[in-house]
Amino acid sequence: MKINEKVFAAKTMLSDTTPLHTFLVKGKDFSVLIDSGVATMFGDIVGVVEQSKSSDIRFLFNTHPHADHIGSNRQLKEKYGLLVAAPVGSERWIEDMEYHYEQFCLPFPEILPHSDETKRDILGLMDGGSKVDLSVTEGMTVRLDGETQLTTLALSGHMMYEIGFIEHSTNTLILGDAITLYEGDLFPGHFSPKQYRATVKKLGELNRKHRFNQVLTAHFEPTDSEGLNKHLLGVHHMIDQVDWTIHQILSEAAEPLSLEPIWRAVCERMGRIFEFRGLAMVHGHLSEAVQDGRILQVDGLYTVR
Ligand SMILES: [Fe+2]
Ligand SMILES: [Fe+2]
Repeated sequence: MKINEKVFAAKTMLSDTTPLHTFLVKGKDFSVLIDSGVATMFGDIVGVVEQSKSSDIRFLFNTHPHADHIGSNRQLKEKYGLLVAAPVGSERWIEDMEYHYEQFCLPFPEILPHSDETKRDILGLMDGGSKVDLSVTEGMTVRLDGETQLTTLALSGHMMYEIGFIEHSTNTLILGDAITLYEGDLFPGHFSPKQYRATVKKLGELNRKHRFNQVLTAHFEPTDSEGLNKHLLGVHHMIDQVDWTIHQILSEAAEPLSLEPIWRAVCERMGRIFEFRGLAMVHGHLSEAVQDGRILQVDGLYTVR
């Protein structure tokens, strides 16, 4: 799919309602891919490379190391001899599949223990580990030709390690999961509400400055400056709602609660399924509320002050 004269997208559906996009930015000197989707998207991405008539695919950038963004790394590396570039800190998630599974799916194995099925499902989205050749931080410029320039942004929150891009000649913002699906039956997860709020604010400020012509994300349809503001509001509201729900649960509880019943009650009240992403997210909210003195924690039990 052609987005504009420099940017192309591959698309698949992860579920009936959740799309997954990966991107190609074409320059005269070379082109780059942004994210590699799931393993089965390899053919679609090759199709987009052909549609764009790009001759030299030099880099594959992973916005962050979740399975649906790194799934075709190995096949793309083999086919194009490209270099894999990913946010600094994310390398081991991409190179070591056992580590990936443990870090992602087993945040609290005493609450959600190892399951062969989950492991098969998650690791099955990826074509195996691949070496990260370049570790990326904010403020890098990738010059694809005299006018086509990508700059990198650090967008921590959904994950500790996440980057996004501005393509300046077309004024396009390209993101992975820096804006997560704020509605739906699953918490996409964010490890730090504080850092996520900071990223939402940063994207809002960038949008005021640039008034992006196009805003591309992995799991929403392509949108514009106005659509970005709507999504930012949605994410902001979801973060607030998790905080309020936790506060309510603890206020109503007759005695201090541990992580598990709090997490289960948050999922029930917000209508989301019980899953490891939501578990890590609720823990992130609790930890920051304890740091801020809004919630008291003694021996793994939480209570409101
Ligand atoms: Fe993600
Ligand atoms: Fe994703």
